[in-house]
Amino acid sequence: MPYRGERVNEILQMRNIHKSFGATQALKGVDLDILRGQVNAIVGSNGAGKSTLMKTLAGIYRPDEGTILFDGQDITGFTPLKLQELGIQVVHQVLNIVGSMSVLENILLANPPVRCGLLKWKSGQDTVRRILKEIDFPLELSAPAGSLSVSQQQFVILARALIHQPKILVLDEPTARLGMEETQKLFALIRTLKQRGATIIYISHRMEEIYTICDRISVFRDGMHVLSKEAALLSEAELVQAMLGKRMETFFPKEEAPIGGEVLRIQDLRYRDRLNGVSLNVHAGEIVSLVGAVGAGKTEILECLFGLRQWDGGKMTLRGTELSRGHNARRAIDLGMALIPEDRASQGMIGDDTVRANLSSVDMAKACHAGVFSRAKEDQLAQKLVDRLDVRPNDIRYIMTGLSGGNQQKVVVGKWLTAEYPLYLMDEVTAGVDIEAKAEIYKIIGQIAQKGGAVLLATGDIEEAMGISDRIIVLYKGRIIYESSPAQTTKDDLLARIMGGGTHAQ
Ligand SMILES: Nc1ncnc2c1ncn2[C@@H]1O[C@H](COP(=O)(O)OP(=O)(O)OP(=O)(O)O)[C@@H](O)[C@H]1O
Ligand SMILES: [Mg+2]
Repeated sequence: MPYRGERVNEILQMRNIHKSFGATQALKGVDLDILRGQVNAIVGSNGAGKSTLMKTLAGIYRPDEGTILFDGQDITGFTPLKLQELGIQVVHQVLNIVGSMSVLENILLANPPVRCGLLKWKSGQDTVRRILKEIDFPLELSAPAGSLSVSQQQFVILARALIHQPKILVLDEPTARLGMEETQKLFALIRTLKQRGATIIYISHRMEEIYTICDRISVFRDGMHVLSKEAALLSEAELVQAMLGKRMETFFPKEEAPIGGEVLRIQDLRYRDRLNGVSLNVHAGEIVSLVGAVGAGKTEILECLFGLRQWDGGKMTLRGTELSRGHNARRAIDLGMALIPEDRASQGMIGDDTVRANLSSVDMAKACHAGVFSRAKEDQLAQKLVDRLDVRPNDIRYIMTGLSGGNQQKVVVGKWLTAEYPLYLMDEVTAGVDIEAKAEIYKIIGQIAQKGGAVLLATGDIEEAMGISDRIIVLYKGRIIYESSPAQTTKDDLLARIMGGGTHAQ
């Protein structure tokens, strides 16, 4: 054991943890130490077993074999509630928000305030306000949580975990749904918690984040813990090699595509107080990234275009056809738009159906042979996509909810690839996918552009915006405040504009 020196202080010791789901062995004898007071990263490809281990730590799964020691105490098989009382809080990859309940109620959900046997939500108000102030994330307490954006929901869940002043806080891909500004806020919070002596377990697919915030990195591959090292002593190349079991050369293979005529034109788009006159265009073969903080309006632009929101003013034209205000998603698809939404759990996928059914749900025509639905054709098509995107397990009959988060995302992207659309709207399209799949998705986006497709991409990943786009547009409070090609800007410049609006402070 490399971390058995006298000064080493493990808060958690996991020993020989096994967990299977049917024939899938998710954890194959994991030994892992988590060090007290540090930010411990867990990295690994999609399906490596990271979330399963964290759910085991949270008491949601009982390991088939193995033990977990917390400060020397055997906590294997403890209930989630008991573990929370001991100070272990897990912010899971999937957000468990109750949409119909208020922000206040959602934050207090785990331990609702009860007086004389009655629920008294209001008595928890002060605590909740204090926590939200601490995380520097103001939210209207009475707003229904379902009306919030996914990044706001992420902070609701975070506040819920912080109420209990956790000794160990697990964050399972917290930034997959955050913009750049929110990510900075989260990092500030992590630093504060660390100063107070908390231990953090941090899971992410974004290398830059890992190196910015983590002290120590543990790599998982295929249900096993393969390596742990201090972040400062582990090079990115070595990390990637440990993760994949092989070398990987390029991450952002931007393919050059000829830029053609205008596909999309938006003029003076207005939507409530969230879009205040946005004008932009996208050409055939062009990849345009929209970046901005939460509330900047990225998702709103895509959703107005796709007919999911009724815009209030402005004009939008797709290949010369003006979009009518009453148009809906079906009409958007008919006109030639595809939307890969931000929130895959509620919009992008049918969770209790198979991978095959999800892949063919958009474009059944492809699975028809001479007008008759053909299961064999559907299988063939689905299998091709699963192979291309390297969905694991490579089984088209797998139920979606049984896939790891990143693998679900691959399927959600894949279902739009059965046809060619003139305009692709993509919202956080690589959220939660591992570096290999990310490279594959970038390749696919590149191919879409090469075939003359136009791509409008909302992203919170600055590396992604810099790596794959022809143009980057910065939104600030529902307005475009800056536009540039990646070659003519820098990450720091973009970040400053995203956070401060460039010309004036918030
Ligand atoms: N409830 C379940 N039913 C069936 N299989 C499951 C279930 N949960 C996880 N698995 C399988 O266990 C393996 C590990 O999944 P896990 O979610 O732990 O991966 P992960 O490392 O968190 O990946 P990601 O980066 O995509 O989130 C995968 O093969 C997954 O398909
Ligand atoms: Mg996971």
